[in-house]
Amino acid sequence: MSFNQKHLLGIEPLAPSEITTVLDLAEQYVDLNRRDVKHADALAGLTQINMFFENSTRTQASFELAGKRLGADVMNMSMQASSIKKGETLIDTAMTLNAMHPDLLVVRHPHSGAVDLLSQKVNCAVLNAGDGKHEHPTQALLDALTIRRAKGRLHRLNIAICGDIAHSRVARSNILLLGKMENRVRLIGPPTLMPAGIAKFGVEVYEDMREGLQDVDVVMMLRLQRERMDGGFIPSEREYYHRYGLDAAKLSIAKDDAIVMHPGPMNRGVEIDGTLADDINRSVIQDQVEMGVAVRMAAMDLLARNLRTARTEQGVMA
Ligand code: NCD
Repeated sequence: MSFNQKHLLGIEPLAPSEITTVLDLAEQYVDLNRRDVKHADALAGLTQINMFFENSTRTQASFELAGKRLGADVMNMSMQASSIKKGETLIDTAMTLNAMHPDLLVVRHPHSGAVDLLSQKVNCAVLNAGDGKHEHPTQALLDALTIRRAKGRLHRLNIAICGDIAHSRVARSNILLLGKMENRVRLIGPPTLMPAGIAKFGVEVYEDMREGLQDVDVVMMLRLQRERMDGGFIPSEREYYHRYGLDAAKLSIAKDDAIVMHPGPMNRGVEIDGTLADDINRSVIQDQVEMGVAVRMAAMDLLARNLRTARTEQGVMA
């Protein structure tokens, strides 16, 4: 088993074998999570602190459940009520928490790079739960596990990522992961929502959804991230839905067995038709949520093993 990371800050530093290690371990946790008694002790005695500086429903809930099911003491910091509001810097908050000896810090922050910076100041494993437009590694890993289970493999697939690519850390992490695993990734969206220079990531870019969806195995839809837009990126939601909203007619262009994904939260009738999102024959959106807990258990378990090894080595040297 190979997983040589101290932190999980992004997909970028991971080797394909490390990605496979996380997914294989997560499979075991999928089984555990389907039992009546969902307890293991991989994180027993460890303290996990969740710091979310941006709103979150499924990511925060699943990190909390993941930690609890593995026996960690889990604390959710309410960042709304924290001293950040009184002017304390992110680093001061981190140093304060560090003095309480956490073992795992799970951090979501609106600024790209903030989680990386924080990881340099603390003595524990840090997991990036989304930093600005940069990365969201556990989302890409849970998407990968969902795809692998639905398609029976995670290579040589045609995967379309559609919509607001420019503002999406989910898209970035997925482009990196799916590329490393040797899939063909297509990006579909209006030029205003396509990041400059994206072609160098080895993806194909389409403006027309009907062209881009031809022969794809997976259709991954993204939310229009209005909170990250500071102007008119789209003409109107109605027009956007007409051109880029996924409905049964547009999906019929993809392969007959193509699956539909969305990281949530979804805007029904903006980027996806509500009935299609609920169609259990095509949509794997609920599977993504289930895989999210298992993948986060696996990621924290692997990081905790490395943390313990590093501490033992330090103890031997001291
Ligand atoms: C995503 C995020 O926060 O980046 N949501 C999630 O984690 N499931 C995507 C989004 O907010 O649109």
